[in-house]
Amino acid sequence: MAMIRKAVFPVAGLGTRFLPATKASPKEMLPVVDKPLIQYAAEESEAAGISQLIFITGRAKRSIEDHFDKAYELEMELSNAGKRDLLEIVRNILPAQVSCIYLRQAEALGLGHAVLCAKPVVGHEPFAVLLADDLIKGEGQGAVAQMADMYERHGCSILCVEEVPWEETNKYGIVETTPGPQGELRVTSIVEKPAPQDAKSNLAVVGRYLLTPRIFAKLETTERGKGGEIQLTDAISALLQDEPVIAYPFRGKRYDCGSKLGYLQAQVEYGIAHKDLGEDFRAYLRTLEL
Ligand code: G1P
Repeated sequence: MAMIRKAVFPVAGLGTRFLPATKASPKEMLPVVDKPLIQYAAEESEAAGISQLIFITGRAKRSIEDHFDKAYELEMELSNAGKRDLLEIVRNILPAQVSCIYLRQAEALGLGHAVLCAKPVVGHEPFAVLLADDLIKGEGQGAVAQMADMYERHGCSILCVEEVPWEETNKYGIVETTPGPQGELRVTSIVEKPAPQDAKSNLAVVGRYLLTPRIFAKLETTERGKGGEIQLTDAISALLQDEPVIAYPFRGKRYDCGSKLGYLQAQVEYGIAHKDLGEDFRAYLRTLEL
């Protein structure tokens, strides 16, 4: 079965929930401790053996490209100053075998449209989609690596899911499932952001997808849906008519870094777990009278 070699990162969104921080810099560049969100996502896909990263960018996203490029002046200065550790960090943002491709999404027509922009580069093979504002700390393996293993076994599209509080179904793609022959969860329906009273379940799609290339044909005929946007969820709903799609409850913890609270939770937990800072940070937290 084909390996997953390519990952798509839709990063053209405006990030309005983090204004003014995101007025001139992309939300995907917000750091958690010392790394931007987009780097966590790139590392997660790289750990799953993915070697081509396809970024769907838009206006004011140049810093993402710069982040993954060589930074000659910075490297020179660090080298002259003998700062070897920092030099290593800056040089090894991505391993040499990983390549980056940047495509512009000229109009913000939605997540489905962003994924469709990747069609000429993805071609006819399965691929991953990562939404960097969902930061996932995988258990054992990263979420994409877990999904790649599932793909080996089932050879069909896989959606990362988790249960969310019922009152939050209107923030997610919501799936209904039925047990498949090998105990996997087969998706029987998917709806974009249903109101809690209309939701068929509280099983929500989080920002990791593994899709077969047939999704592109579906996206090409997907009309504007919720919010006037071309929704990936609607194309997946059409895909379901032709192919099985699996919902995969990943092992690990997700931080919704598209919301301020989730972002702060990630800062605290990644801070506590950080190899250099963790101990001091814990000690500091203990001094707070909460
Ligand atoms: C997007 C998708 C939604 C999915 C969510 C996961 O929504 O449209 O189906 O559940 O990502 O984070 P967004 O968060 O971009 O509004």
